[in-house]
Amino acid sequence: MILFLDLDKQFFPIRKEINKKINEVISSKAFIQGPYVAELEKKFSRLHGCQWAAGCSSGTSALLLSLEASGIQKGDEVITTPLTFIATVEAVCQLGARPVFADIDPDTYVMDTDQIESRISKKTRAIIPVHLFGNPVRMDDITALARKYNLKVIEDCAQAHLSSYNGRPVGSFGDTGAFSFYPGKNLGAYGDAGMVVTNSQDLAARIKKLLDHGRSRKYYHDILGFNHRMDGLQAGILLVKLQYLKEWTKQRQSHARYYNGLLKDVPGIKLPKVQEKGSHVYHLYVIRVKDRPRVMDHLKKKGIQTLIHYPVPLHLQPALGFLGYQKGDFPNAELAAERVLSLPLYPELKRSEIEFICQELHQCV
Ligand SMILES: Cc1ncc(COP(=O)(O)O)c(C=O)c1O
Repeated sequence: MILFLDLDKQFFPIRKEINKKINEVISSKAFIQGPYVAELEKKFSRLHGCQWAAGCSSGTSALLLSLEASGIQKGDEVITTPLTFIATVEAVCQLGARPVFADIDPDTYVMDTDQIESRISKKTRAIIPVHLFGNPVRMDDITALARKYNLKVIEDCAQAHLSSYNGRPVGSFGDTGAFSFYPGKNLGAYGDAGMVVTNSQDLAARIKKLLDHGRSRKYYHDILGFNHRMDGLQAGILLVKLQYLKEWTKQRQSHARYYNGLLKDVPGIKLPKVQEKGSHVYHLYVIRVKDRPRVMDHLKKKGIQTLIHYPVPLHLQPALGFLGYQKGDFPNAELAAERVLSLPLYPELKRSEIEFICQELHQCV
């Protein structure tokens, strides 16, 4: 059986270090925020070319805090992609703002930046580029548009730890970068956690206040905030794992190259395309096939787990029906949703397992 993701294989080799750190955090009683969160903020933000960071309770919180601190409010419009996890637009809707979609590039699956300008209206206040699957968006285009129209940029980096564009880390282009440490992410906690990175001290200070009940000190509240704080235990665990992130990322990239080599001559399989000038960190290795149900079924019978990211683009989700979009509005995202297939890919995956998966794919496409 080849699991889609096997977190046991990541845990066993570092079990001792993790357990030691958990004991350390519990003994210190730094359960909520505190020194472990501060250390993680410092180390993680530097890795992404940012001076400031705010640890928080999830990637969804990181997006919400970024938008709120950037002043996004009721009636504003925020442009993003229809092919992403729903959290990207939930954050927009939570503030009473309206998501506006621009279609994806059919080869890289991230936002096609050429489709953004025509969607900009008088109400547009921000763009959320999503570095989907670990592949970066063309950030030079986004930055130019933001400058021209005076828009905020919130990068959704939930799937893109250590990814870069033009040699510069994602998260450092926008006003903020929002990361998720959901357990299955390239850097995953043992529960929910997230982080905002930024080069604006003001934004960082505002976000830190918002995520902790708007307080300046205990029982003194300057603004209305909420509880989006990060747990010390998650920060401790992430600090241990952070030491391995570069190595794990290299392994992901090497597995992707191995898949590419073995699948390159298979008619009927479209391989993932890396963004030009970008570094793809392969949170997901996504191929495209015509008859996806048959391929998935064949692989399942052979004990190979696969997943679909994502089966329904956001503009066709019932939860977002109120936006008034229809089938046909974003043909590239719709075609991707019909045909994409994510294959197992994690650092501990064996070459022999990749060979077996590819051999079975040769049989069934
Ligand atoms: C693209 C994207 N954005 C946002 C999120 C939200 O992150 P979280 O699950 O940590 O709230 C996720 C993760 O699931 C994601 O994949």
